[in-house]
Amino acid sequence: MSEKIKRVRKAVLPVAGLGTRFLPATKAQPKEMLPVVDKPLIQYAVEECIASGIEHVIFVTGRRKYAIEDHFDLAPELEQFLEERGKPGLARMVREISGGLHFSYTRQSEALGLGHAVLTARELVGDEPFAVLLGDVIMDGPAPTTRALCDIYEATGVGAIAVEEVERARVHLYGVIDASPAEKSKWGVRLLKVRDLVEKPAADKAPSNLGVTGRYVLPPEIFDYLENTKPGAGGEIQLTDGLQALARERGLWAYIDPSKTHDAGDKLGFLKATVELALKNPDFGDDFRTYLRGMKF
Ligand code: UTP
Repeated sequence: MSEKIKRVRKAVLPVAGLGTRFLPATKAQPKEMLPVVDKPLIQYAVEECIASGIEHVIFVTGRRKYAIEDHFDLAPELEQFLEERGKPGLARMVREISGGLHFSYTRQSEALGLGHAVLTARELVGDEPFAVLLGDVIMDGPAPTTRALCDIYEATGVGAIAVEEVERARVHLYGVIDASPAEKSKWGVRLLKVRDLVEKPAADKAPSNLGVTGRYVLPPEIFDYLENTKPGAGGEIQLTDGLQALARERGLWAYIDPSKTHDAGDKLGFLKATVELALKNPDFGDDFRTYLRGMKF
């Protein structure tokens, strides 16, 4: 690693959104705390951080999000209670939720968009590269996506974002990249050089069928681009706009990630994630499969 290219130690997890697609469940509780099988949605992203060697997680929170802070805090009374009741396994599980990570919290006082949420973390990130993980997206694959993006950044000094192939009929739901193959890379055909990004294009205007999935590793210069980004539709500052400038001026990789992406931020995506992950559960996955097979449709 050259001296200028730093190791990726920090991750920003924006969780300040209003979760409107999930109302009424999200009226009084954060979407990111809804349980998928047996743990809150946000815990999947934090576990990906731990598996990726991240040391410091920065949550960008908003009103009504205290449950997230409590979830990742120590709970000595609960642990003691479980120990005293002869449940050391559960006590360990509770203790290990925070995985030795350092957590910081900053508030986005208004949900002005994902780009704005990332910009809110600027002071806590400082002058070093960092990962961004969307808390309502679960990556389910052979290796942690964020680790792969960190490897690409640490080898090249250029930011990287995860993408996946999406059906043409669904590209209007994604940020879509215009990219060309990277030359002679150790990631082979999975690594692309981004020329441009388009936010939620119509199917016939989309430059490709590769959609951005919600995992990023970015250099600190992204903050300058976000600061100069004008609010777009709905007054929101889009991360895509900052990424466009970054791609043009400093370069940006796209990594075709082999993991399956579960976008659990809306009701149908959430149900699909729940069913697929429940089927893989070592304790009751087989029973659940038998139950589903026996259902009459
Ligand atoms: P989403 O667009 O999926 O979340 O943003 P949302 O805005 O809460 O959802 P809807 O569209 O109203 O249903 C992806 C992630 O970015 C965070 C969200 O909390 C979510 O985890 N986010 C989004 C912010 O932190 N701030 C924002 O201004 C917008």
